Amino acid sequence: MLVSQSNDEIIQKDRNSVWHHLTQHKDLDVNDPFIVAEGKGMIVKDTTGKEYLDATSGGVWSVNVGYGRESIANSVADQLTKMCYYSGIGGTIPGALFADLLIKKMPELSRVYYSNSGSEANEKGYKMVRQLSHIEGNGSKHKIIYRHRDYHGTTIGALSSSGQSERREDYGPFAPGFAEFCHANCFRCPFGKKYGECNIECAHDLERVILEEGPESVASVVLEPITAGGGIIVPVEEYYPIIQSICKKYDVLLHIDEVVCGFGRTGEWFGYQNYDMQPDIVTMAKGLASGYAAISCTVTNENIFNRFKSNPDNKMSYFRDISTFGGCAGGHAAAIENLAIIERENLVENSQKIGEYLLDKLKGLRDKHEFVGDARGKGLLAGIELIKNSDTNEPAHEHYAIKIANYCKKKGILIGRTNRSIPANNNTICLTPALIAGRSEIDTIVHTLDEALENIHPLP
Ligand SMILES: Cc1ncc(COP(=O)(O)O)c(C=O)c1O
Repeated sequence: MLVSQSNDEIIQKDRNSVWHHLTQHKDLDVNDPFIVAEGKGMIVKDTTGKEYLDATSGGVWSVNVGYGRESIANSVADQLTKMCYYSGIGGTIPGALFADLLIKKMPELSRVYYSNSGSEANEKGYKMVRQLSHIEGNGSKHKIIYRHRDYHGTTIGALSSSGQSERREDYGPFAPGFAEFCHANCFRCPFGKKYGECNIECAHDLERVILEEGPESVASVVLEPITAGGGIIVPVEEYYPIIQSICKKYDVLLHIDEVVCGFGRTGEWFGYQNYDMQPDIVTMAKGLASGYAAISCTVTNENIFNRFKSNPDNKMSYFRDISTFGGCAGGHAAAIENLAIIERENLVENSQKIGEYLLDKLKGLRDKHEFVGDARGKGLLAGIELIKNSDTNEPAHEHYAIKIANYCKKKGILIGRTNRSIPANNNTICLTPALIAGRSEIDTIVHTLDEALENIHPLP
């Protein structure tokens, strides 16, 4: 049991002992850390008792079904007292049941590999394609292509495949065998074109990189279906069919990272299902159990799975990987109940419907405010890009986004922003409320954001 302590004591203990994520601790010498004590629905309360409407789903887009779900807590508690853990070398009952439920949502995909974070799920995908290259050839078809502005995780392999230089800087050297192609943000088209008058050059850029690297060396391409932390970038509908056909042409596997977009966030069960495409590998975490327990999955098609068992005489030919905490049955149990809630409460449909409402409102802000250059989103993954100058669309400095976010926080609304992604482009405000959001919550969030934009202007 947690012993009840005063706010001052908690702040003191946190200050003395916790090393916070993505935080310059010098700031905490003068500001208190933000410590959340309670949550219900979309509301969180900090240790001072102040309440906030959370438009970030737990800071990093995880609590898809909202806070305080007793049914998830009960499922996890029941499971933990019955059978808390067994390694994935064996299995658990909820592990089997959840895998069966999950693949029903993902036609053409059939195998679920458990681990415990988004980064790790992606690493599994990379190890799978690399091992296939070794067991079926000489290991030369091992390269993985990723996209500028996408993020795939914090471990060195996942970071080596991430297109965000501010997340990478100072953590090199990186793993070899990764290469980058361009982002898909029409608002800052890397080819200086306009959608409607272009040939979707950003998708064709993948082919350029495959040819430069040598098609015989490229194993897979990893992509967020919609770039999340890199600035809420929604590729146009023609984009993924082009990507898919390039992959087919060069025998390159398509790995889609659904760590943010999965589980209804974009108005479909999975972000890729907004597009005409069929991935070979899909990774997921965050909304998979809405943060009630740590769990991630790497899901593949049967062909990939079968290739690892086609040569049992070679003792090295099966997938020689393990994730200790992939065997935590509490994660599997939480995922089952999380999925049941999303189904029972039609949260995928709600995300789509309320997401459209939110995007309409954000477009209103774009039309109204000089310093909002673009409004983008799909489902309840939406954002506005802040600019300094509406003639040139020069990006606003990140201080502007920070001030807007701080203003909203003071008013009791938690909103997100691009944070240490790419230099000069940490200028997107991100809105990712829980999928239970209704019009009134969206109205409150957008009203406060509107007020912030009215009151605060970027420095010239
Ligand atoms: C798209 C994407 N992939 C992977 C990850 C890494 O997930 P984790 O922090 O659980 O390792 C993140 C984290 O934000 C993410 O946004």
